[in-house]
Amino acid sequence: MSVIIAIDGPSGSGKSSTSRLVARRLGARYVDTGAMYRAITWWMLREGIDPDDTAAVAARCAEPIIDLRDDPADPHISVDGHDVSVDIRGPGVGAAVSRISAVPQVRSRLVAIQRDLVEAARQRGDGVVMEGRDIGTVVLPDADLKVFLTADAGARAERRAREQVGDDHVDRDMIRATEEHLLSRDAIDSTRAVSPLQAADDAIRIDGTHLTLDEVADAILAAVPDQRA
Ligand code: DC
Repeated sequence: MSVIIAIDGPSGSGKSSTSRLVARRLGARYVDTGAMYRAITWWMLREGIDPDDTAAVAARCAEPIIDLRDDPADPHISVDGHDVSVDIRGPGVGAAVSRISAVPQVRSRLVAIQRDLVEAARQRGDGVVMEGRDIGTVVLPDADLKVFLTADAGARAERRAREQVGDDHVDRDMIRATEEHLLSRDAIDSTRAVSPLQAADDAIRIDGTHLTLDEVADAILAAVPDQRA
C-alpha cells in the first residue's frame, strides 16, 4: 500500500509513538522529521556554531550528511556516518533545536531530503507516515491523509516527563517545569516566520488527551482513504 500520511502537532502530543504504530500497522515507512532537525542541531553544536548566529547556521547547513533509516520497527538517524539517534534527545540539542529549525536554509535543505525519501518510497511501492510540524502544510501538501494531533499542555508535559525520568520518578514540580518548557517551544514553533506549526485546512484534528495510543492509531487508520487500501 503506497498511502502517504502527514501527521503534525506540537511537542509531546504523542505524534512519534502514534506515527510509528500507524506505519507498522500499514507496513509503511516512518519518517520522523523532528529527528532530522535535531540531527542538524547536534552537528551545529559539535562544530561550535552559535545557534543564534543565523548567518553561520545558514552558511554551513548544507555540510552534514544526514541519513535516516525509515524502518518503523527500528528507526535510526546518522550524521556523517555517526549514529546520533540517542544523542539528539539530550538537553543541549533540545534547548537549541527551535532556533536552528527557524532558519530558512535549514528548512529548505531538510524539506528536500524529506520529499526525496517519499519519492524513493513511492517508487518502491511503499507507503510513508511522516511526522513533524509542517508536513501537511508545506512538505507534502498532496498527502493522502493529513492529521493534526493535539493534547492538553498538562497531558503533554506529563507524558514527556514520564518518558524522560520514568514513571517512578516523576513529580508535580517536574511536570510543571516540563510544561513551561513545552509551552515556550510551542510558542517559538508556532510564531516563527517560516513554516510555523499549524494545521492544514484539510487535516483531521484528533485530541489525544483522553485517548490511548491504540485509540489514536485506530482513529487515523479509520480515516485512511479506501482507494489506495
Ligand atoms: O518533534 P521534535 O520535538 O523532535 O522536534 C524537534 C524540533 O524540531 C521542534 O522544536 C520543532 C522542530 N521541527 C520543525 O520545525 N519542523 C518539523 N517538521 C519537525 C520538527
